[in-house]
Amino acid sequence: MSKVLQCRQLSKSYKQGDIETKVLNDLELSVDKGELLAVVGSSGCGKSTFLHLAGALDTPSSGHVLINDIDIHQLSDKERSKFRNQHIGFIYQFHHLMMEFSAQENVAMPLMIQGKKPKQALLAAKEMLDQVGLSHRIDYRPSQLSGGERQRVAIARALVTKPSLVLADEPTGNLDSDTAEQIYQLIRSLNKTANTSFVIVTHDLVLANRMDRQVKLVQGKLLPLIDINEQESVIKNSGSEDSEHQVSESHV
Ligand SMILES: Nc1ncnc2c1ncn2[C@@H]1O[C@H](COP(=O)(O)OP(=O)(O)OP(=O)(O)O)[C@@H](O)[C@H]1O
Ligand SMILES: [Mg+2]
Repeated sequence: MSKVLQCRQLSKSYKQGDIETKVLNDLELSVDKGELLAVVGSSGCGKSTFLHLAGALDTPSSGHVLINDIDIHQLSDKERSKFRNQHIGFIYQFHHLMMEFSAQENVAMPLMIQGKKPKQALLAAKEMLDQVGLSHRIDYRPSQLSGGERQRVAIARALVTKPSLVLADEPTGNLDSDTAEQIYQLIRSLNKTANTSFVIVTHDLVLANRMDRQVKLVQGKLLPLIDINEQESVIKNSGSEDSEHQVSESHV
């Protein structure tokens, strides 16, 4: 099956003074077109770092990210921005909305960058905001919206271009269970109608379990969640260190 996202030996280190922290360590991942993947892991383990590299928002220390078979970090800055706008929808952990623009203008922006006429872009933005339950807030600026409403504007902005891959950092983090359910249904519907792939970082295990596959970020690598659970029970039962080694070598 063709792949929407492939990460090959992806590594990222941060240097502060003499101290180097390796956040991602030869991480491997393949995501099929149309797949829904959940990424879980403890706070600070590197989930946002991974998502930023996968979305071409940050540069790896080494390794490759291929989206629809294009090595995105080999592109020029200009090509990469254009590629991101056309193929990737990014839902940030902390929204990053433009404060001086209305919700509708924020959502219309990626379409205007693509060269769509403002009228057409604003209409598509209105329809997308309707789908996330915000048709009554289209003229509000981010500062006039609640945290969950801002999150939904950010979701609408990521989905409005109908990208082939959506990378979402805690998309339901600030939402009540009814609104989170609405967002989940939207994800499912886009997945079904447009074969959109989603990689969703989340601490919400209910949402994670509703995706097609779950992986966990541990010590800079992504491991299948099922192996982690098995590994924990094997370690508990036998105290063996070999089993831990076996799981961390497995590819995702
Ligand atoms: N620009 C940076 N400079 C130095 N260290 C950084 C930088 N960005 C992230 N880190 C470090 O990398 C590690 C991973 O951060 P990251 O934001 O990816 O974690 P996370 O898994 O998304 O956590 P959370 O669940 O809390 O959002 C952290 O220890 C963080 O301090
Ligand atoms: Mg994070």
